[in-house]
This record gives sequence, structure tokens and C-alpha cells, in this order.
Amino acid sequence: ARIEKAGHKHFMAKEIAEQPTVISEALAYYLANDGAGIILPDPGIDFSAFDRITMVACGTAFYACYTAKYWFEQVARIPVEIDVASEFRYREPPVSANTLAIFVSQSGETADTLAALRYMKGKAKTILSVVNVAESSIARESDMALPILAGVEVGVASTKAFSCQLTVLALLALEAACARGEMSADTLATRLSELRTLPGLLTRALDLDETLNAVSNELSEAKDVLFLGRGMMFPLALEGALKLKEISYIHAEGYASGELKHGPIALIDSHTPVIVFAPHDALFDKTVSNMQEVMARGGKVLLVSDKKGLEVAREGVWQTVQMPEVPDLFAPILYAIPAQLIAYHTAVAKGTDVDQPRNLAKSVTVE
Ligand code: G6P
Repeated sequence: ARIEKAGHKHFMAKEIAEQPTVISEALAYYLANDGAGIILPDPGIDFSAFDRITMVACGTAFYACYTAKYWFEQVARIPVEIDVASEFRYREPPVSANTLAIFVSQSGETADTLAALRYMKGKAKTILSVVNVAESSIARESDMALPILAGVEVGVASTKAFSCQLTVLALLALEAACARGEMSADTLATRLSELRTLPGLLTRALDLDETLNAVSNELSEAKDVLFLGRGMMFPLALEGALKLKEISYIHAEGYASGELKHGPIALIDSHTPVIVFAPHDALFDKTVSNMQEVMARGGKVLLVSDKKGLEVAREGVWQTVQMPEVPDLFAPILYAIPAQLIAYHTAVAKGTDVDQPRNLAKSVTVE
């Protein structure tokens, strides 16, 4: 069937708006009817059989892996190595026999990711892929392929595939935590019910469209933009910067907020907006103190946080975006929405070709 924009100006806008629906569908696919367990295709994955995970991908899919590293390590206590496929395939990494290799790819055809997968054949114990295109090369060459069920993604800049990749990876991390004795059935049930609130929260985040549009009009004047985050929000800062640069052509960088003082703070001036993703979680105070270092040097901060966070930290901030409260673990999925909408509206304000940015391809099947 022909894919249409369904009333949206761009495919990217449509795909951003679809996220509550596609994530609901992914959750319905992977969750047992009683809501208490995760269902993987036969024969399942025994996470207790591995002593490490290696995750490899390119672009936005790599940032999904980066986020999942925090999840697997925090909740399942399993070490995770991540790398971009173009580096992984040539650095000849030693692979221990009890490795689970996970390849994440929207298209399932990215040449570097496929080559990295082939490198792992016969070395890793199991090769798992997380793909949008179920009939793709990467899916076919894996021991098991898990669909993310995002539906066709037309916009070159990945949006709904990213949040669906995160959703499936979050489920895998929970499954791993249970299998490794790091999470009780009760806690799992709680986490799964939290996950089921996500579509509703995403819908509320989408309601911030007007606010984010107004902010983006101002951002479109910038030459450089920095994105900051700590913990699980760090990979999202990287993704936010990638999204903005690829479609608006504004130079953007993502940094771990604690790393700012080791160089990037030299870039701060009153012309460089700094976008901070900081839900009111255990690391909030740390991120806020980094944000204050930026403001003390004349930097203008856009703080994306929740009610509690903004109550304590809005002073001196240039712009604020108030997000719904979200269970800590799943904040990266919710905060993907403002990251995407900021990039989208900034690009629209600049008049770039949002769905088909210059020099980029949706699927990169050459090296
Ligand atoms: C291209 C696309 C990106 C995507 C990356 C990886 O560069 O423009 O949006 O993240 O490839 O693609 P994959 O299909 O492997 O997820």
C-alpha cells in the first residue's frame, strides 16, 4: 500500500505523531495477556547463559544501543559493550564465547552492521537482531530477529523506529534481569505496568508541539547548539544533536553533562543554546549543577524537565519545557519526543528538506 502523509506536512511529523500507537502495538505484541510477562518468539533467549552483551549499530540505532547499555547494566547487572558498526567490524575485537551479540537496525540492510554481524558469526554464542524490516538481510542472518513493529518509516531521520527500538530493548533488559535473578516477578509486573503507561505519556508529550515549535523558531537562528544529559539521558543528548544536525544543518553536539568542564564549556557564549534533558531523577541535582555552570558563563539554557524539576531549577533558565512525570527507567523513550520535535520544527523554520536531507540516505547499503 502507498504510504501517505495523512494530513501532516512531512512524513517525519506523521511518524513522530504515530509513536503512541506503534509503541502500544509493540507492547501488545511482546506482553502476555495477563500483563505479567514478556513473550519472545520460540525458543526464547536464556539471558542467564551469557556473561556479556555486545551491541552494534549505526546512527540512531546506535544511540538506542547506548541507552540500552544503561538498562542492561543497571537492571540485569550484565556488562554491555557497544560500538558503531564501521569501527567494530575492523577493530578485530576478541569475543568471549558466552557473548550475546545484538544488532539493531531499522532497515536491516546497513552494510557496516551486516558486516559486523558476519564477523560475530561463529564467535558469539547467540546473534540477536532488533529490526524494523522483518525480511531483511540482518534479520535473516541472525539466530533470532525481533521486530520492532514501527511500520514503514519514510523520513530519512529516524523517529518512531528509535522509540520502538528502545521499547523492545527495554523489554529485553527486563527479561534479562528476571532470568539472571536480579528482578522479582513483582518488580517485573510493576515495570511492565509502568511501560504500559508510556503511550499515554507520549500523547501528552506530543501536546507540547506548540511550545516546542515556538522554542525552535528561536533555535533556528543559532549556529551551534549543545545537548546535555547524564546517565540514560546522555545517549538521548547524542540523538537530539544528531537529529538536529541532520535535518536543520545546524551544528550540534551532545555531551555527557559531567564532561562539559573538560573542554566543551569553552564553547559557551550567549549565542549558543544549550538544551538539557533532565527529568527529576536520582542524577537531577548533578545535571542541574552542570547547567548552572553553563548559565554562570552566559549560556542560554533550554531545560526539558518535569514539574518537580522545574520547581527547583527554573531560575535563570532561558526556556523551559514541562514534560509529564515518567518512571525513571523509561524517561529516554518519553524525552525522545521533544528531541525529535525540536529538530523537526527547527528544520521547518529553516526551510530545509525535512524528509530528504541533503547528502543522506535512508538505508546505507554501501560501506
Ligand atoms: C542511515 C539513516 C539513519 C539510520 C542509520 C542506520 O544513516 O539515515 O537514520 O539511523 O542509517 O540505519 P539502520 O537501518 O541500520 O537503522
